[in-house]
Amino acid sequence: SLFPVILAGGKGERFWPLSRSGRPKQFLSLDGSSRSLLQATADRLIKLVGGWDSVFVITSNQIAEGVRQQLPELPSQNLLIESEGRDTAAAVAWTSLVIKQRYGEDAIVGFFPADHWIADQEAFANTLNAASSLAASTEAIVTLGIKPTFPSTGYGYIEQGEKIGTFDELPAYHVNRFTEKPNRETAETFLSTGRFSWNSGMFVFRAGVVLKELYTHAPEIIEPLAQNGPSIYPQLPKKSIDYALMEKTTLAYVLPVAFGWDDLGDWNAIERLLKTEDTPNVELATHVGLDTQGALLYATDPEDVIVTIGLEDVVIVRDRKVTLIVKKDRTQEIKQILKTLQSDP
Ligand code: GDD
Ligand code: MG
Repeated sequence: SLFPVILAGGKGERFWPLSRSGRPKQFLSLDGSSRSLLQATADRLIKLVGGWDSVFVITSNQIAEGVRQQLPELPSQNLLIESEGRDTAAAVAWTSLVIKQRYGEDAIVGFFPADHWIADQEAFANTLNAASSLAASTEAIVTLGIKPTFPSTGYGYIEQGEKIGTFDELPAYHVNRFTEKPNRETAETFLSTGRFSWNSGMFVFRAGVVLKELYTHAPEIIEPLAQNGPSIYPQLPKKSIDYALMEKTTLAYVLPVAFGWDDLGDWNAIERLLKTEDTPNVELATHVGLDTQGALLYATDPEDVIVTIGLEDVVIVRDRKVTLIVKKDRTQEIKQILKTLQSDP
């Protein structure tokens, strides 16, 4: 059976000012539903494994209390708290150590980012069952590959190799090469070959297999953690699992998936989700517009009114005393401007 782990330590800065310190993106509902991204991720996994007992969450000290409030049913011994974020390689290493210690090295572990939108829950469950079968029967680091639609520079790319079999009716392939966040030119080349998929950021493997691979490819992370436990966290290098392990391991496999997926990385993702043919703008606020199109408008206070004239392709967000106005193609730069703000207003 599968032990799902939710990776919930990120900040989600590109959703500022809605996401702020103490209230990161995963605590928000971005699509107008009543469940936050974190809660929606947990709901999916509970359905998959049938209860809370085997579900883990790893997060940072700063937001651990918020995680407890959002997921009151999560067993306290399944909440791993990092004294400070050290990116996902350390998170995967520590959780895998804990799960191996409690349940043995053959325990199957699945890692799930808390910032994904998934359309078809049933297909999601089928794919995870296939990934678990593959991980149980082979020394495999299983990735889920998404059919790419544009040369994104924000994702990992997986080059599909030979077919190695069929698991729960889904074909599985060896991974020839994994490239994290390539530049635009490389991404375009990858896309043109037709052999690449996007890395979904979800991973499935046996605890013993990933630990062995970490000892080989990321000893600077796994050795101190195994020797000292999480007290060593502040001294660990900040590296994502994609750079630390996925680009190096030869045990990677990919299951092509088709369950409707999006990484809710910035405001443009909300537009992708909510935009329909017959509305000029995406309105999550009371908006009065004259000749405005391609705008995304969001206000936290339902009494706020946004009035626009003659705008095109902008994002306008009002939240607690802050108004952000940004051209749609520059939302990635929110991260940069945050560095210049003295404090998080
Ligand atoms: N516990 C913990 N600690 N979680 C973290 C930390 C940390 O220090 N840093 C990030 N996370 C969590 C985030 O909250 C998120 O849910 C998940 O780990 C992935 O981190 P992101 O920062 O969102 O990664 P990314 O989107 O840039 O890239 C990854 O996901 C893409 C797909 O969405 C990579 O795996 C890419 O290869 C992949 O394509
Ligand atoms: Mg992400």
